[in-house]
Amino acid sequence: MEINNNLQLEKKILKHFLNIKSLGKKYILDIIERANLYHSGEVNSNYSQKVIASLFFEPSTRTKTTFELAAKKLGAEFINIDISSSSTSKGESVLDMVKTIEAMDCNMFIVRHSVSGTAHHIANSVSKKIPIINAGDGTNEHPTQAMLDMYTINKHKGEFKNIKVSIVGDILHSRVAKSLIYSLNILGTESINIIGPEKLIPDNLKDMNVNYFLDMNKGIKNSDVIIMLRLQKERMHDALISLDSYYDDYGLDQKRLALAKDDAIVMHPGPINRGIEIESSVADGPNSVILDQVSYGISVRMAIMSILFDNN
Ligand code: NCD
Repeated sequence: MEINNNLQLEKKILKHFLNIKSLGKKYILDIIERANLYHSGEVNSNYSQKVIASLFFEPSTRTKTTFELAAKKLGAEFINIDISSSSTSKGESVLDMVKTIEAMDCNMFIVRHSVSGTAHHIANSVSKKIPIINAGDGTNEHPTQAMLDMYTINKHKGEFKNIKVSIVGDILHSRVAKSLIYSLNILGTESINIIGPEKLIPDNLKDMNVNYFLDMNKGIKNSDVIIMLRLQKERMHDALISLDSYYDDYGLDQKRLALAKDDAIVMHPGPINRGIEIESSVADGPNSVILDQVSYGISVRMAIMSILFDNN
């Protein structure tokens, strides 16, 4: 089957995939539609002339591996730049490193960095027409994760508008949460609940069109979707919360899950910390779609990469 590429209208945005914030609803739905075609095996693409380089300045298991699998399924060449043994460890700047790899005729960069804005900075600096995909920048955004999260919600709930989505935990340091909130808002979700201790909630929450709950039991009541987040300890400069009380207050156990709808789905971007934010029996239980998210990530990343190639 031929993919009907009707995404030209948003060409300006389509050059790179840097954030969700500036995307239109149609673009998000088009990615889901194309991901569905890849997921069902209805289409095959051959991008064998393309070379994709991954530059991960932070650890990753799911994101990096699913990008690699997605690239290979598209027929592209995929190279993993080993940052720990790269020249940045000899003092080379990120931009000099990127320009060096650019000179090797790579056609796309996948970038993860602990500093917010790094992928945007690289996108503004590469001289040739190389699409940049943001695979997570600091505490800012993680747009491909949000896309696979939207794909998961669509697969299991079939809609975005009339559902209650609860996002629980360290919203402040989570780029996943930011991209999630932007995408749910763009897709018209009426009820988005943010649950967590005040110290882990960003000040600008009011601009985000969400309901804040300090009390998890109240927040997750009647939820259709519960998204649990890890405490991003590596981004906390001080000990913002006590781990002892965290599980009691914000851990998702069977008792709390029972407050949500019977058919609620439990999501988590991973890595999960069992016994800290989620009980094992919930993570492995019938409501959990955590491993589905991982596998949908391949089709969703195939869709995003192929759209960028087609429009550049
Ligand atoms: C997230 C990340 O790196 O932002 N993980 C992921 O990409 N699946 C979330 C996290 O690290 O907690």
